[in-house]
Amino acid sequence: MSTELCWKRLRKEADTLKPRHLSELLADPQRFDRLSVRHDGLLLDFSRQRLTTETLEQLIDLAEAAELRPAIEALLDGAPVNLTEQRAALHTALRAPEGTKLKLDGKDVIAGVQQTLQAMERLVAQLHRGQWRGYAGEAIDTVVNIGVGGSDLGPLMACQALEEFTPDSARGIDLHFVSSMDGSQLSGLLSWLNPATTLFVISSKSFTTIDTLANAATARQWLVDASGLDAEVINAHHFIGITANPTKASQWGIPTSNQLLFWDWTGGRYSLWSGIGLPIALAIGMSGFRQLLAGAHSMDRHFREAPFTGNLPVLLALVGIWNINLLDIHAHAILPYDGRLARLPAYLEQLEMESNGKSVRIDGSDCSERTCPVLWGEIGPNAQHAFYQLLHQGTEQVMCDFIVPARRYVGQSQPLQEQHRLALANCLAQARVLALGDKALSEEQTRDAPPWKRYRGNQPSTAILLDELTPYSLGSLIALYEHKVYVQSVIWGINPFDQWGVELGKKMATELLEALEGDADPARFDCATRGLLERINRLGKAAEPRKG
Ligand code: F6P
Repeated sequence: MSTELCWKRLRKEADTLKPRHLSELLADPQRFDRLSVRHDGLLLDFSRQRLTTETLEQLIDLAEAAELRPAIEALLDGAPVNLTEQRAALHTALRAPEGTKLKLDGKDVIAGVQQTLQAMERLVAQLHRGQWRGYAGEAIDTVVNIGVGGSDLGPLMACQALEEFTPDSARGIDLHFVSSMDGSQLSGLLSWLNPATTLFVISSKSFTTIDTLANAATARQWLVDASGLDAEVINAHHFIGITANPTKASQWGIPTSNQLLFWDWTGGRYSLWSGIGLPIALAIGMSGFRQLLAGAHSMDRHFREAPFTGNLPVLLALVGIWNINLLDIHAHAILPYDGRLARLPAYLEQLEMESNGKSVRIDGSDCSERTCPVLWGEIGPNAQHAFYQLLHQGTEQVMCDFIVPARRYVGQSQPLQEQHRLALANCLAQARVLALGDKALSEEQTRDAPPWKRYRGNQPSTAILLDELTPYSLGSLIALYEHKVYVQSVIWGINPFDQWGVELGKKMATELLEALEGDADPARFDCATRGLLERINRLGKAAEPRKG
């Protein structure tokens, strides 16, 4: 069947299902069994989605018609799926076990990956054992990761999520993350960190990102001022560069012996599995990091091998397609019911929106279908006290992902175990009320309720239940979303691996910096930009200290 016919059939299916309320669908006692799927310690429950098993079959037909199967093979085999940049997107190779073979341009990729892992292992051991010394000969006890986007969000999210897996050997190192271009995070840290024992990890695939280079320059100046030593000595003792552009890293001053390299075929937002994951390995040890890779690899294999009917990333993607393209839902909330996953929404915002926030297909034509929805999120229980009002009674339809571990605090205090049950209860309650609305209550309870106390329900959600949160299950969870994004891009015919949309803003900022420094004529800008520039420049001049 052609994709056109599949879409046509799905539109008919949507016309039938749109008027049906989730309360009606959930009346089927078999629904959970029919619409939940599992792999390893991950369960995906689609029973609160506004679809049926027949809908899923039709969506799978669409995936087949869009040639998803060969597209998955192409991704995993290293074909140049990033067509606008003519390269592979081989983040999956970064988590392939030792001994696996994968050739790219005649060279075995996995051997290089394993070498980098070994280099990482040596670095981690050196730091954990207190063998990396600062300019005064003292052992480094603080590591600050300077990066942004994929060079920040992945390691930051994983380090927060897995903090409790810190082995004793890693307890001597304090980790911090700095990303913001304006220096606010860095200036706070520099006011109390000890320069003699602080190491900066400059994480940047391109090593040209101005945000990162500005923070790195400030950090280096701080060290030079504190030590009275040359930048060269400081670079050797206090900077590690993680990059795919060793030339630029060397030009900046990072000695080659302090560089951890990765490859052009690793997209920034897919890079936490590479050397960019160094902070994760520092936080949870190399064996923890390898567990993260193993969990992701298990999902990669499942993605390649499982039939679409039980394939977690494929189904997650297709359910998204159903909501976005057939039910016209264009907002997506990510709601982890576990404070350790606080940064997961931000991580997924980049992963999904930078990948699939496109309106042009690979062949250059305009997309005929809507693509990536607006994605945002927050720790679920906190969001209950913030934006859930809109989810329950607003005018917007929103699809939600509830993410929660079944087990937590095993063997720990009763009150903590009680708190986990409380979080679970809230998660289940919110998903239930969003789906059923008033129908979650008895007729008697709702009979005399005024309009402002009514709940419409019918907001679709997917529950993602982890047996527990571990490095392994986190690896699987992230890989699940990565592959979901890829599947959707195949259906929409777009390239999820470039991000040309962010380039123009960067170029424009350079021109505006010149205007702020008085080196460019403001007349060349539009009136709004000119107006603000003039005001900023006037205020800046007024704040300058008077001479004489
Ligand atoms: O501006 C977007 C982006 O290129 C992201 O794709 C990337 O993760 C981030 O900037 C950081 O890039 P780099 O690692 O090259 O500094």
